Amino acid sequence: MRTGALLALSTLILGASALSATVRERVEASPVYGVTLPKDYRHWTLISVAQENGKNNDIRAILGNDIAVEAYRKGKRPFPDGAVIVRLAWRYQSSSRNDAVFPAPQSFVAGAATNVQVSVKDSKRFPRSGGWGYGQFENGVANPDVTLMQSCFSCHNKLEKSEDLVFTAWSP
Ligand code: HEC
Repeated sequence: MRTGALLALSTLILGASALSATVRERVEASPVYGVTLPKDYRHWTLISVAQENGKNNDIRAILGNDIAVEAYRKGKRPFPDGAVIVRLAWRYQSSSRNDAVFPAPQSFVAGAATNVQVSVKDSKRFPRSGGWGYGQFENGVANPDVTLMQSCFSCHNKLEKSEDLVFTAWSP
């Protein structure tokens, strides 16, 4: 009886830890591609910035790891395997605090973070999407929307082949 109870308990614990492993995997890696958020991306090199109006209404910074940045500096396309580009975005909002020191309202700054998008070059891992894998993260958690994930390649693929699916140009 006691052995039975112990067995039931250990099965329960094992089951729970297997489940939490699945959940963890699901939130850490993007669907379709299995791309994770690089741990140190916040320390990467700035490639450029962008600002989107309309529904996005955000301001963005595009950063690259060393492999991506070297390819940019040398004008090398396609990007080599191992290149990773991240796009950070924040609400684009006026700052009354900053405006207070100017003669007229003029200051816009980054507000709350919206999401981080990641493009990973690995031609062996992602042969069906031009060698790139994609992910989108909100508060560090992968967005689980498969349709959203499929939109990445279909839009980036509209570029000329010579641009290797990357929109952002290096800002010196
Ligand atoms: C409708 C078109 C469109 C879709 C869909 C789209 N992107 Fe982009 N993406 C762009 C454009 C245009 C830029 C450059 C301008 C900007 O950053 O706003 C860009 C920039 C980026 C960048 C910076 C590097 C680069 O290629 O310029 C990354 C990283 C990125 N997108 C990842 C993603 C991911 C991940 C998804 C899917 C979740 C995605 N994108 C979906 C159009 C798109």
